[in-house]
Amino acid sequence: MPILITGGAGYIGSHTCVELLNAGYEIIVLDNFSNSKPEALNRVKEITGRDFQFYEGDLTDRNSVEDVFSRNRIEAVIHFGGLKAVGESVLFPLQYYQNNLVGTLVLCDVMNRYGVKNLVFSSSASVYGMTNEVPIREDSILSVTSPYGRTKLMIEEVLKDLHTADDTWSIALLRYFNPIGAHQSGLIGEDPTGVPNNLMPYITQVAAGKLEKLQVYGNDYPTADGTGVRDYIHVVDLAQGHIKALEKVMSSSGVEAFNLGTGTGYSVLEIISAFEKVSGKKIRYQITERRPGDIAISYADPTKAKTELHWSAQRGIEEMCRDSWRWQEKG
Ligand code: NAD
Ligand code: UFG
Repeated sequence: MPILITGGAGYIGSHTCVELLNAGYEIIVLDNFSNSKPEALNRVKEITGRDFQFYEGDLTDRNSVEDVFSRNRIEAVIHFGGLKAVGESVLFPLQYYQNNLVGTLVLCDVMNRYGVKNLVFSSSASVYGMTNEVPIREDSILSVTSPYGRTKLMIEEVLKDLHTADDTWSIALLRYFNPIGAHQSGLIGEDPTGVPNNLMPYITQVAAGKLEKLQVYGNDYPTADGTGVRDYIHVVDLAQGHIKALEKVMSSSGVEAFNLGTGTGYSVLEIISAFEKVSGKKIRYQITERRPGDIAISYADPTKAKTELHWSAQRGIEEMCRDSWRWQEKG
């Protein structure tokens, strides 16, 4: 029976589709292309040599979701579909609550009615807020600093309530740290619209000459070189983590959160120098003020995913930078 991938045309979704198809799964993708393009799905087919069904539709539109479930016997859902820009969520909170919360409520309601109770949900390390000790464990205090983060935390709570009410649900809450990199074919990757907010796409666009220089947001944090430290994870490792989570939800019930990170933190300056080394490009940068809302250090304790999902990240920082650059050069 097929696995439904909401948001499967997006950055993490498209890489996960590749890994699922390569592992022999049958998939169906539902996406409204609000932050992606149909071409990504063609590229997934090109990489894997496999075909799959696609539905263009919006998760907040019950008829679109019903349409998929009424025509197919679905075994499990991996739910990527949502809006993800932290700054935009501060400016347009209603749009974020509407899309992310309502989309998930509609999806779960339709799943319930069709008896599909296996779900892998894209949560985020942003549910850990500002106040944590590192490495961050799944039982660390949860708090959020943006409407985007709040949608993730609220959805986690909704899904826990769903499981309390009906313990035949089986749900994995995957808290991603900082996904970067791209498929090594250079055919799929992150394709931000406008000026990127995140570090790696900004760096690759500076290297490509599309942007003049990087603003490094603060060098007075309590870290070794003063710049912010994050747990960057290769998107293909992240995608493979979803397969392990899928296997887990399909073979047990419960609701469990898992950190998907490497367990190692790199500073902004370390990322710049790793990128320069593998690309041979000089990255111009300038130290500026801290970005409001940023924390000094965030990296995962990935032990739970290792012991319970039998997954750990394999790709190092240079491979992440090399694959990000290959994608930028081809794009
Ligand atoms: P993305 O924007 O590339 O992909 C999301 C996909 O969902 C897009 O293809 C978009 O068109 C689709 N979508 C959005 N709203 C939809 C709706 N209402 N109906 C149907 N499709 C819809 O983002 P991504 O980086 O691939 O992230 C995937 C998920 O992981 C998101 O839920 C995001 O919040 C979460 N996440 C991402 C990061 C990150 O840094 N990339 C970190 C933590 C969590
Ligand atoms: N940074 C810069 N200059 C830039 C962009 C970023 O110096 O132009 C710095 C930031 O200050 C931070 C680091 O690079 O220290 C990483 O910043 P990103 O914006 O790439 O990532 P964040 O850790 O701020 O946030 C990301 C996602 C969120 C998600 C979070 C945890 O954008 O959606 O990781 O998963 F919630």
